[in-house]
Amino acid sequence: MKILVVGSGGREHCLVWKIFQSSLVDKIYCAPGNGGTFKIAENINIQADDIDSLLEFALKENIDLTVVGPEVPLVLGIVDRFEQKGLKIFGPKKDLALLEGSKIYSKEVMLKYGVPTADFETFTESDEAKQYVLRKGLPLVIKADGLAAGKGVILCDTKEEAFQAIDSIIIDKQFGDAGGKIIIEDLIEGEEVSVLIFTDGKTILPLVSSQDHKRAFDGDKGPNTGGMGAYAPAPLVNKESFNQIIKEAFKPLIEGLSQEGKVYKGILYGGLMIKNNQPYVLEYNVRFGDPETQAILPKFKSDLVRIMLDTINGDLENTAIEWDNRFCISVVLASGGYPGSYEKNKQIFGLEQIKKIKDVFVFHAGTKALSQSESEDNKIVTTGGRVLTVVSLGTNIKEAQEKVYQAIKVITFDKMFYRKDIGYRALQQVNL
Ligand code: GLY
Repeated sequence: MKILVVGSGGREHCLVWKIFQSSLVDKIYCAPGNGGTFKIAENINIQADDIDSLLEFALKENIDLTVVGPEVPLVLGIVDRFEQKGLKIFGPKKDLALLEGSKIYSKEVMLKYGVPTADFETFTESDEAKQYVLRKGLPLVIKADGLAAGKGVILCDTKEEAFQAIDSIIIDKQFGDAGGKIIIEDLIEGEEVSVLIFTDGKTILPLVSSQDHKRAFDGDKGPNTGGMGAYAPAPLVNKESFNQIIKEAFKPLIEGLSQEGKVYKGILYGGLMIKNNQPYVLEYNVRFGDPETQAILPKFKSDLVRIMLDTINGDLENTAIEWDNRFCISVVLASGGYPGSYEKNKQIFGLEQIKKIKDVFVFHAGTKALSQSESEDNKIVTTGGRVLTVVSLGTNIKEAQEKVYQAIKVITFDKMFYRKDIGYRALQQVNL
């Protein structure tokens, strides 16, 4: 089969790496790809949101399966466009990609199907939103309705913070069209966990739980980022609570949508808060998480392409996933200054050396190869904020953590930084 992977991050490199292991696959393309994907896939110079060009390429090359990494093309309707031309593509259609594309739609659907989530109200007028803040009291969470590259959720402890958030989204249009409407919701304090499922609209096939680290600095300090590291599984979730999450956070939604004739196919990612053993859905994403995917797929022993085809064909009922039982940690190496401004084109050293370490994997994100030759001394330079994800498997959390941080020592680039404490919550939980 010929596979096209859409995207350029660590998640997409990890997907390409896992797809490359499938016996069904002859050739992989990645659009646009990065300085890691080109080693096992052919990078194609088409951006992930350029659906016309992606479609033209897939038709010309007779692509058998397209796998979409990021949310933007899904929300723009790439699945509908490809299916109209008879092409197989993994992911939900445009109407259901709205579960991530509109936070208001997502909350309304949760409410409709009885999915546990924080109480909320929606607003389009700044004054009304401020009145609500005064009536309700703080803390509150303010969210822009549309896609905002992970930056549209603002936690507010004071009235001043809340008013500023409301004005910046509704009046100053900080997130452009994404801010035409906002949600104000109650803050639920607890422990966050990510649970991803494959679903064909009938069957739910869960992946192992994971936990992301969104803040830039150790101890969960500093600004929010796209994610600085993750681990899987999350010890916070035992078998019983995992079953409860599937039963309460996913089953009513998938069944309710199907009964309306809306068949969700693809990955559905639940960002959950666990408070007093009760899961609450903070948000749904309609794609694999980044960097959760880099911590989950090294544990995944089944054929990913087979499972994606079963999802598309509505055949998940008799499908199972085989897992490596070891613990996995992913740590993001970032450019100094990220998530603010940072310098680019820094040469990365140590990539050949780290490849030799057993049970350690490196997934590229913001990197590019100065030439796409196979030569070992080919220079790889930084092009983005999140540059690499280094991943390790270990028999327990401590071993995985020690291995990943030992491995990172061989990688250097100017102004590189990373969190030194990925997995600390997991360690605390197993030591309780
Ligand atoms: N790790 C957060 C996300 O993928 O949205």
